[in-house]
Amino acid sequence: MGKIKILEESVAARIAAGEVIERPAGVLKELLENAVDAGADTINIDIDGAGKKLIRVNDNGSGMSKEDLTLSVVRHSTSKIKNFEDLDSLDTFGFRGEALYSVAAVSKLSISSAEEGGSGNKIIVEGGKLISVSPSPNIKGTTVEVKDLFYNTPARLKFLKSDNYERSLLLKVVEESALANLHVSYNVRTDGRLVYSFLASNGDFKKTVIQRAGQILGAEIAVSLISVEDERFGFKAFLTPLSKLTAVRDLQFFFINKRPLTSKTLQQAVYKAYHGRPKDRHPAFIVFMNMPAADFDVNIHPQKRDVKFAQENAVFGFLMNVTQRALTGAAQPVDINITPASPPAATMEFSFAKPRAEEPSYKPFGQNIVEENVFAPISKQAVVVKDFEDPVSYNPEPAEPKKEMGAHVQTDNPSWWQGPYRFLGSLHKSYLIYETELGLMLVDQHAARERVLYEEYLKKMEENELGIQPLMFPVTVDLPASNVENLMLWKDWLKTAGFEIEQFSPRTVLVNAVPNIFRFKEDSLKEFIVSLAGIVGDPLKSSDELKKKTVAMLACKKSIKAKEDVSMAEADALLLDLKRCQDGMHCPHGRPVMVSLSAAELTKKFGR
Ligand SMILES: Nc1ncnc2c1ncn2[C@@H]1O[C@H](COP(=O)(O)OP(=O)(O)OP(=O)(O)O)[C@@H](O)[C@H]1O
Ligand SMILES: [Mg+2]
Repeated sequence: MGKIKILEESVAARIAAGEVIERPAGVLKELLENAVDAGADTINIDIDGAGKKLIRVNDNGSGMSKEDLTLSVVRHSTSKIKNFEDLDSLDTFGFRGEALYSVAAVSKLSISSAEEGGSGNKIIVEGGKLISVSPSPNIKGTTVEVKDLFYNTPARLKFLKSDNYERSLLLKVVEESALANLHVSYNVRTDGRLVYSFLASNGDFKKTVIQRAGQILGAEIAVSLISVEDERFGFKAFLTPLSKLTAVRDLQFFFINKRPLTSKTLQQAVYKAYHGRPKDRHPAFIVFMNMPAADFDVNIHPQKRDVKFAQENAVFGFLMNVTQRALTGAAQPVDINITPASPPAATMEFSFAKPRAEEPSYKPFGQNIVEENVFAPISKQAVVVKDFEDPVSYNPEPAEPKKEMGAHVQTDNPSWWQGPYRFLGSLHKSYLIYETELGLMLVDQHAARERVLYEEYLKKMEENELGIQPLMFPVTVDLPASNVENLMLWKDWLKTAGFEIEQFSPRTVLVNAVPNIFRFKEDSLKEFIVSLAGIVGDPLKSSDELKKKTVAMLACKKSIKAKEDVSMAEADALLLDLKRCQDGMHCPHGRPVMVSLSAAELTKKFGR
């Protein structure tokens, strides 16, 4: 007798139904979940044409009998639950019996499958119609091929974004699946090119996570990860220490019972533990938790991505505390050798012209640069360059001026810096002090330079006068494959902004040239690139102006040195430059550039 049953209507009706396949990544997620549910320990994935042409998932799991195979594409047909109550002891990713049905409705689908010792069969379904059932080789396992996705729903096809973007989402799905299912080997190809090859764990959980993290997040982050465990919730986590925060917030993974989630509750709990972190630096982490299926509900959204916890506060408190303890105390980085992040030799067949620099000797300018420290609080919208669909977040209003120590933040009263003024010196290599006719003026030298550079860069771009500086040795940036795809969306446009980048491998990008008005340290240039790669959304769909501002803001922020001595001539010149700016009162992120203390205020303070 077959394993798959059609759920009774009363059960089906209570399950969050209405799976809508919106994009290729959604298809891949469902197919990978099915393969893992079927007990596979090897999964081969092929993606062509960003998933629109082909998504093929081959597994060596249980396979299906002929009877089950034909039932598998019927709505509400599942082998995973029978009653609604079964959801309380769910140990599979799937439970609705909807995924294959939904995929079959919008693609040309074929499934070949064979059980151990059984005969192999293949079904073909097009646009939801069963076309044929025929014999196939009896190799245990299942191969699902989804071709021409959305061929019969042009509106959905049109809704898809660029190939790079869709590929980035597809690879993200693989990255999550590989981190959640360590016992499974994965081989992933896009358009015939091997992107990832994850070997199955030999039983050592920590080693395998770090190995996989090394491939996904990059070896540098992976070796810094602190490992933490706690009996409660079967908690196992890998976290970057406060000293190793990254420029982006998307190297973050939560898994509950192996299910990848994007939970605000969980994220806020972890961020609370990183209290004191510079606002634009983010932790990378991989957090695994287990809890009885009855303690959380995945059934609140058809895509099974959101959860609701029965005890929201308890989970929040636990996660915050355990993370905090790990960061402040005993936990140690995991001491493991990482396999290099570059893919196996076989993958390098495509021809990238430039060799990787042995030791990048790009030594940009300033020699005695103190650790860049540009992370004072900034307006919320500014650095969280979030979504291109939301231009507002790129164009922050100047932050509400803060009044500190009785000093005035200059806003609309430029008379303070119109001169005459006299440079008195600097404070902490950060603030320039001037005497003016009205009293005392302090200028945040970093913010001031950022503003000047920002406007100069935008102007030069506007007037096509940007000078380009080719780098003698390209700077290499290692990124998750999904982020590389994201970054490649920017490639052509970035050229008009003076940055020349190219893909070196599925997980490495080279920077070949930068605008010559910037003085990047190598690390800062890498951070700039990583930040761009982490921006959510499709730059192709956003206005030129928005892109210019976004890139200018990020580049200026990353390229300016913090804390350096400033000569009198430089201090004078900086004020002159500021005056020429359209908004010399604020840095590009909206923070004030200067504060003042009038002679009258000083008199009052001294009780004269
Ligand atoms: N790769 C596979 N190997 C073995 N059986 C499979 C595979 N893919 C699907 N099946 C069978 O087909 C059934 C239907 O799959 P489908 O993904 O549509 O539903 P589901 O996994 O049960 O629930 P959900 O809709 O939540 O994913 C599964 O319950 C399973 O029995
Ligand atoms: Mg499924």
